[in-house]
Amino acid sequence: MGSQRNCLLLLCALGISAAQAGDDVEQRKQAAVAATKGLVQQLGGALKKEMEAGGPAQAIGVCRDLAPKIAGDLSREHGWQVTRVGTRVRNPLLGIPDAWEQQVLQDFQVRAAAGEAVADMSFSAVVEEPDGRYFRFLKAIPVQAVCLNCHGPVEKIPTAVQEQLASHYPMDRAVGYGEGELRGAVSIKQPMDLPLKTN
Ligand code: HEC
Repeated sequence: MGSQRNCLLLLCALGISAAQAGDDVEQRKQAAVAATKGLVQQLGGALKKEMEAGGPAQAIGVCRDLAPKIAGDLSREHGWQVTRVGTRVRNPLLGIPDAWEQQVLQDFQVRAAAGEAVADMSFSAVVEEPDGRYFRFLKAIPVQAVCLNCHGPVEKIPTAVQEQLASHYPMDRAVGYGEGELRGAVSIKQPMDLPLKTN
């Protein structure tokens, strides 16, 4: 009798925690979507402004300095890891995808080959890793026309940009992309044992 009762209590407790975890995951996803949207909008606005003000050679700072800065600020503010990863990488320190990210990027490529628009793709999951559970989120980044100035076919990249890229990134692999292609993703990794920061 006693053990049956304990068992029921246990089931009940598991049921509640599963429901709570479900809500939590949905909230985590919404928070990741919102953070990504903010990052992408800020970058897009800054890129447009710098391109108009001084052309691609001046706009390099947006992708080189502003993007990692915003991602760093978001990371510190929330206790997450926020970064941009590439299918081919210019900055290996920040841009090389880990095993999970590589797998999801490959899935995005398969979905793109089947006709889905890269701009609409995202994927999230709770992942067990050796040191704990993480909520992980990847939002695909499509190549737009403006990106070709620095990520397009090398012969189409302005000489002034080529020179800067060669001096900062001698092992650059993030060129040769076409419009609409998958450039990479915004990646957000949230430790599940850290409460979600709600403002
Ligand atoms: C004016 C040049 C320039 C333009 C335009 C530009 N980028 Fe970049 N991009 C860079 C540089 C430089 C880096 C390396 C940043 C760093 O050092 O972390 C980079 C890095 C990236 C990365 C991180 C992964 C990696 O390869 O290191 C992504 C993703 C990316 N760019 C996407 C885009 C997209 C999408 C656009 C268009 C909306 C774009 N970029 C437009 C210069 C540019």
